[in-house]
This record gives sequence, structure tokens and C-alpha cells, in this order.
Amino acid sequence: MPRRWAIGWSAAGSIVTPKGSEASRVAGTWWLMFGLACAVYVIVAGLILYAATRGRRARGRPSALRDNAFIWIGGVAVPLVILLVLAAVTVNTTSALRRPSSDELRVEVVGHQYWWAVRYSAENITTANEIHLPAGQPVDIQLTTDDVIHSFWVPELAGKEDTIPGQVNHLRFTADKVGTFRGRCAEYCGLQHAHMDILVIVESPGDFGRWVARRQAAQPEPTSEEAARGAVVFQREACAGCHTVRGTSATGRVGPELSDFGARSTIGSGVLRNTPSNLADWIYDAPRVKPGIVMPSFRSLPADDIAAVAAYLESLK
Ligand code: CUA
Repeated sequence: MPRRWAIGWSAAGSIVTPKGSEASRVAGTWWLMFGLACAVYVIVAGLILYAATRGRRARGRPSALRDNAFIWIGGVAVPLVILLVLAAVTVNTTSALRRPSSDELRVEVVGHQYWWAVRYSAENITTANEIHLPAGQPVDIQLTTDDVIHSFWVPELAGKEDTIPGQVNHLRFTADKVGTFRGRCAEYCGLQHAHMDILVIVESPGDFGRWVARRQAAQPEPTSEEAARGAVVFQREACAGCHTVRGTSATGRVGPELSDFGARSTIGSGVLRNTPSNLADWIYDAPRVKPGIVMPSFRSLPADDIAAVAAYLESLK
């Protein structure tokens, strides 16, 4: 079966269509800057046109006093006022974005080459590449990295925030609207920088509560015989050394947690759509699909073993 790519399947959002508190403030500041820049452009262009068409036809001696006033007002005073207004608005916006709130949900996000680890410490939930958030509740995304500098950016929800080795950066916002918002790594971090997507799934508080309960409940036993066999292969092969599946002896920390893999929409941080045949393709030779990643290929594994592991992982929901 041909591979079904996920790249570009849902357009990334724009900063001018904000769906959250922080993004709205950033968009407001952006519109103010844009408006002022447009006004300056139109006025200056108008004066140039006026000067060019007026020519030297106007009679009378030029007044040095009027020319000086024009330069002091148009060249110094007005730009100074515009820059001071922009500085005040920018500083005010930036400080408002940093303000912690008492009921915020804490989510720890760690950048990896080339995926995102996501952890809810208080809820004891670990996942990857997809962040579930309740609408209307302030969140504090605590960002760091396991290797190089990445930048976490979901344009419709908040501004960019870098992940710096040995440091925790905070990104605070409240998502207002239920929906799925696509973000990406916004700092060049290596070969697959462009394929390091993050999905933020904003749900109603009730749906979010149900998601948390489902993630905390015991992992159900595989239902199909193939999936059960896949669980055995997963533990036998190298998979369990790098990945964690909650409630099993697989506790690897090198690759993404797979406890809820079947519920995710993409494979490889937004590269392939999550279908069983894509997953089999990925397990067979992930470095061919996404060159430069840590995950090795399993070309020597029999096809039915690969299909069984794929069935097992798709059953984890
Ligand atoms: Cu991670 Cu660019």
C-alpha cells in the first residue's frame, strides 16, 4: 500500500487567527504595528508624490523656518512618539504573557531530535507529540530540551518559546476554543527540523477529564490474537529498550512513550498518518521515511512480526 503522508494535511494556523489569550494579545500588538507602519507608509509615499508632482512651479522664496519645523516634527517628534507607543505596548504585552495564575495546568514538554515528549506530572501521564488541554483553563507549558535548542510554536495559541538545554522556559496561555491546533519546531535543530510537528487538542473540560481518566486507567489487554503476539515481539525485540508502554516491562526512555499510540493521528511527529500499513512501513525502515532520526530500521524482522507489532501499537488507546 502506498504511504499516506501527513505532511501538510492540515494547514498550520496563523498568528492573525488567534484561538487563545496569549495569541490574541500577540495578534493585537501585531495589528497595531501593522496599522502604524501602513499609516507611515501612506503618509510618506503621499508626501513623495506631492513633492514630485508639485515640482518648482510654486512661487515664492522657500522658508528655512518651515523646512526646519517640518524636519523636527516629521523626522524626530512623530517617529519618537510612534516608537515610544510601540515600546510601551510591547513591554506591557510581554509582561502580561509571563503572569502566572493559581489554577494553571502544568504540562512539561521536552524537545528531542525530532519529536516532543509531553508529561503531566500531577496527573502522572506521559505522551508524545500531541498535547490535550482543557478549554478556558490557564496552562503553563514548561519547556526544555534533551539535546539541542528547539522552539515550541503553536501560532493560534501562543508565541514562540525556545527550549534551551539545562533551562526551563515557561509558556503561559489559555486556549479559548475547542479544536485541534497544529504547531511546529521554529528553531533549526537538524536534518528533520521541518518534520517536528506538535498537535494541541483543546477539549471541553468534561472531555479533557475523560481523557485524563482514560490515560490513568489500566491498559487493557490486547483484544486480537495478532496484537497479543505483537506485544510479545515488542518486548522481545529492541522496541522495549527505547519505548515505554505503561503497565508493561517496556520502560525505555530514548524514544516517545507509546502507551496511547493508537489514539494519535500521526506517526513520527507529523510525518505519516497513523494507519496500520504506514506504521508497518515505519517500523520496517523509519530512517528511510525520516532520515536522521534515532529510531533504527528493522528490515530483518519478518513481515508478519512487523504487522503484529503494528497491530499491538494501534490497539493502545
Ligand atoms: Cu526541533 Cu527544529
